[in-house]
Amino acid sequence: MSFRTTPSVDYVEDVSPGSGALPPRAWYASSDATSLSLNGSWRFRLSATADAEDDSFAGDGYDAADWAEVTVPGHWVLQGQGAFGLPIYTNHLYPFPVDPPHVPTENPTGDHLRTFDLPADWPADGGAVLRFDGVESCARVWLNGTDIGEFKGSRLPHEFAVGHLLKPSGNVLAVRVHQWSAGSYLEDQDQWWLPGIFRDVTLLHRPAGSALDFFVHASYDHVTGEGTLRVDSDVDGRVSVPGLDIDVATGESVTVAVAPWSAETPKLYDGELATEGERVPLRVGFRTVVLEDGLIKVNGRAILFKGVNRHEWHPEKGRTLDLETMREDVLLMKRHNLNAVRTSHYPPHPAFLDLCDEYGLWVIDECDLETHGFTEQAWRDNPVDDDRWTPALLDRAARMVERDKNHPSVVFWSLGNEAGTGRGLTAMAEWIHGRDASRLVHYEGDWNCRDTDVYSRMYANHAEVEQIGKELDGGTHKRRQLPFIQCEYGHAMGNGPGGLADYQELFEKYERIQGGFIWEWIDHGIKHPELGYAYGGDFGEELHDGNFVCDGLIFPDRTPSPGLVEYKKVIEPVRIEGDGADGTVRVTNKYDFADLSALAFEWSYQVDGETVEAGTLSVPSLAPGESADVKLPEPPADRRGGAETQWTVRALLASDTAWGRKDHEVAWGQFPVSARPAPSVAATDRPTASEKLIYLGPASFDVRTGALKTIGGVEVTAPHLDVWRAPTDNDDGMDWQTETRIGSLWRKYGLHRMRHRLDGVELSDDALTVRTRVAPAAWEVGLATAYRWTSDGDRLKLTVSVTPEGDWAVPLPRLGIRFGLPEADAVKWFGGGPGEAYPDSRMASAVSRWQSTVDNLQTPYLRPQENGARADVRWVELGGLRIEGDPEFWFTARRWTTEQLDAAQHLTDLTPDDTVWVNLDHGQHGIGSQSCGPGPLPQYFLRAEPAEFSFVFSALG
Ligand code: GAL
Repeated sequence: MSFRTTPSVDYVEDVSPGSGALPPRAWYASSDATSLSLNGSWRFRLSATADAEDDSFAGDGYDAADWAEVTVPGHWVLQGQGAFGLPIYTNHLYPFPVDPPHVPTENPTGDHLRTFDLPADWPADGGAVLRFDGVESCARVWLNGTDIGEFKGSRLPHEFAVGHLLKPSGNVLAVRVHQWSAGSYLEDQDQWWLPGIFRDVTLLHRPAGSALDFFVHASYDHVTGEGTLRVDSDVDGRVSVPGLDIDVATGESVTVAVAPWSAETPKLYDGELATEGERVPLRVGFRTVVLEDGLIKVNGRAILFKGVNRHEWHPEKGRTLDLETMREDVLLMKRHNLNAVRTSHYPPHPAFLDLCDEYGLWVIDECDLETHGFTEQAWRDNPVDDDRWTPALLDRAARMVERDKNHPSVVFWSLGNEAGTGRGLTAMAEWIHGRDASRLVHYEGDWNCRDTDVYSRMYANHAEVEQIGKELDGGTHKRRQLPFIQCEYGHAMGNGPGGLADYQELFEKYERIQGGFIWEWIDHGIKHPELGYAYGGDFGEELHDGNFVCDGLIFPDRTPSPGLVEYKKVIEPVRIEGDGADGTVRVTNKYDFADLSALAFEWSYQVDGETVEAGTLSVPSLAPGESADVKLPEPPADRRGGAETQWTVRALLASDTAWGRKDHEVAWGQFPVSARPAPSVAATDRPTASEKLIYLGPASFDVRTGALKTIGGVEVTAPHLDVWRAPTDNDDGMDWQTETRIGSLWRKYGLHRMRHRLDGVELSDDALTVRTRVAPAAWEVGLATAYRWTSDGDRLKLTVSVTPEGDWAVPLPRLGIRFGLPEADAVKWFGGGPGEAYPDSRMASAVSRWQSTVDNLQTPYLRPQENGARADVRWVELGGLRIEGDPEFWFTARRWTTEQLDAAQHLTDLTPDDTVWVNLDHGQHGIGSQSCGPGPLPQYFLRAEPAEFSFVFSALG
């Protein structure tokens, strides 16, 4: 009998954070100490289990020539076209049996190997540190054959002292990475499981006398206008800030007049920490964060978070982000009026925080901790309530705080996400409070707020937020003293979220409510050769949560989705309200710190949506919270009698800033002067019937069915009443939702299979009337629908009257008509635009003349669903027709039917057919946020009620 000896892999299932690593410390780039990036191409060997291979690959002279290669940083499952395994997406279910700390024997293990030479100028003296900025989920490291340790804590840095092991050339660095480990139990965030060395690997020279760790304390006294700086450093040295004439020893405090740092005014002072062996650049932002009078105050003022939850995401590289991508995120946030980011649900690449300091964003820095899957067993055996895991939790807290403590942008430390409650969390909070009294602690999972400085919730509905605002929500004594934020709300999955403006109103109304963070920043779609972008299930996972991973304000390629455009408008920092009749505009500064001096204002006057005159508006540089009434100029002489007129006032950047160019639009308002006259068509033409057709004005109809066939030369697929829309993710809701899930009710009541019964075709002196009943099989409900056609010989008017019959228990998805055009490409309209809008997501829709194409009207939600409606449309021109509405209508056009849109799973399932389908809607149901939160508010329901609406058609010459 023979035994094969396998290497010990006990560390994989060990609850301890690891061994061999250096204590955590501040992350910084030295001015003069050399470093060597070990990013690049590494040799790679994938094994099916943790112990399949021994450690001989780490030794000298190992020949890895036949190994594959991967790029570091990177996730191996996103490289090698499937040869290295595939990504798995679950929301909160562990993709392995829950038996902590054990993990499956099938444990994909990637051996990574590279050799390197030290650069010629690498100093002979001093030490060296090898730093890993992020490895998922557990790694063991050898340098030149010596085992230097192992670690867990995927999105946290780990450093090893390696100076004594280095050679001038031929160094062999071997890293064994296991996909699953005890650490995986602590990393159950709602995202793709993506193993690999996904952040930088760097060798840092550490000169003798170099700085080790330091803590920049830079506070601001808003009463005196002075800042106090003290840099505590493990290694003594001097601290200088030339712009403030500061030159003091480490550990010494100095107080001078400064400009404070805030997200709106991110003033950073360049400085330096000089120890005997090294100079370290500092970027000092002075600010003081306190909990006072039950409010989060920075520099003496309560702040309002207009935030977003950001996961790190790139459609090809996963959680490996380069600096330019990080900068793009920050610039997009700033340009869309966001002022805060929660780093859900782990500390980001440290460079992202540098950008937040520089451009100005409040940050909730969240620890890499989530144990959500334990909810399935009522939180039994939850690691955060089991002392054996506490060292790992404290290690994670320390690695976050020590790494990120010198960033002025970080105002909150968050213990983690959805980890239940327990002693481990308390231990983390106590440690953090003790280590850093200059920031507050956040955690959402404990509604009693035992360990936190803020009452935080996710997806609370409007009514509950209002209760909390009024301080009628009860709760523990501690909680009642605390301010409130929604660390997640507004679920941006697919079309939506709706209801943001209503939330913002509450956030601004109640002092206790200090804002919120939309869930989430970006869709985690993975670029896929056949599917466009893949989501959960597309890699054949045995457990997955579908497109729940695609719920961002931007698409995977970082183009803003309508949700971001809406959010920008909802949170704009200047409110512009006007009264068209008396020609005054009221401007309110809604910043917390900045005055309006960075902005220039412009007015314009529109006649039928066309600007006829424009000019600049002088607005006083209001302080935060102040308002002013500003007189608009005399309206230009109305050059078109009976026209619709309105003012538009816009606030623009007055000059280039770090994040936006001069003239970038920050805020706007519109207010009507004179209303649109309703289109009128005198019913002077008389319908005449031939053997096959009925003629009325420019149109012909089928004599038997009364169905419209042509208007002028344009053949149409006859309009019919339409109530169906391809349910949005927010219509569908999620299976755990206890509230009514509207999408499934719609299907239950057959609104996707309505039948049209013809009850009569009537010709009178001045009209053709077609009577129908529109109803689903199996139910008594129906919509008695009459189409009344009239004409003045030139134009054709359709009046649709709808009378609900039976007991309608559900609102309608939409109410309007759908018809087909043989061809249409360019589209022009006067109404809301440029982007899509729905009843509770229409703030960003501006009334003007717009043009687009049928293709560009589509919003490419990764899972196809209702999209692309334009609101308040007065008239539209497409496919040779002009259509006017009475009243204004919702307009949608697409190259596939609603049924095809509904059936599609990916955008690549949608293929244009030879008809352009046009919906002209009198009403649309609201969108809400029920894919993870409340549905639409009652005022946005489209109830089945009697309705009448008209359209006037004419052929374009
Ligand atoms: C929250 C969670 C997030 C995400 C979101 C739904 O419960 O904190 O990570 O899962 O729901 O998209």
